[in-house]
Amino acid sequence: MISRLKSTFSSAWGVMRRHPVVSALYALVLLFGIAMGIIMGLPLPVVGVTLVVIVAALLATWGRTGAGPGFAIGSLVVSGLVVVGLIQLVPYGRDRTQPPITGEPQWASAETRTLMVRACYHCHASEVEYPAYASIAPSSWAVQSHIAGGRSHVNYQQFATNPGNADETIRVIRDGSMPPAYFTRFGLNPEAALTDEERATLIAGLEKTPGMSGGD
Ligand code: HEC
Repeated sequence: MISRLKSTFSSAWGVMRRHPVVSALYALVLLFGIAMGIIMGLPLPVVGVTLVVIVAALLATWGRTGAGPGFAIGSLVVSGLVVVGLIQLVPYGRDRTQPPITGEPQWASAETRTLMVRACYHCHASEVEYPAYASIAPSSWAVQSHIAGGRSHVNYQQFATNPGNADETIRVIRDGSMPPAYFTRFGLNPEAALTDEERATLIAGLEKTPGMSGGD
């Protein structure tokens, strides 16, 4: 067992040394994938497991066949597609049951509500709109975990029965921690990215909305 592992490693290492450019490119693609996973807000264990699967597939093909990198990369692409296909069967992220709506805050104006819906209701409401990328794993898992996490802190459509952390609303908008940076990066969900002016308008409205800051 150990000696087989050893020979797998040394023959994979041999292929990598014979094809340094392809190997370096491959490593770059891997790093890019990890960075994307983290930026998207995927949980770290998911990124870690994916990485292990990819490296194991690489070792298995490069180590066993001793074939050139073309073959190894071809089989990696195929195994990657199989993995992506299989993870679609995981039910997490498919359940879109809405929690009941019990009553929103008394927003100072219609504009205050509109801005809140644009920037916050993707994750802090009962009626959430799912982005297109929420239909495919693993990004569907990321979306599901953001919505579950967001609702558990505050669901503005259940404010009447459970205000949660609503009293932190003004603070998180002012310090820029909400909406989370990963949500609007790379032009994703552009409607959620508020301009400085919209942010100021929103805060002014929230200051006149009961329950939105600790000072009330
Ligand atoms: C992409 C999903 C998402 C969006 C959009 C979003 N949030 Fe959040 N929010 C979260 C998550 C997840 C948490 C849990 C804390 C964390 O993991 O950062 C959270 C936490 C919070 C908290 C609790 C923070 C604390 O320190 O107690 C408040 C208040 C909040 N969000 C308000 C807002 C407001 C206001 C907006 C709009 C300007 C907004 N959020 C937009 C996902 C989101």
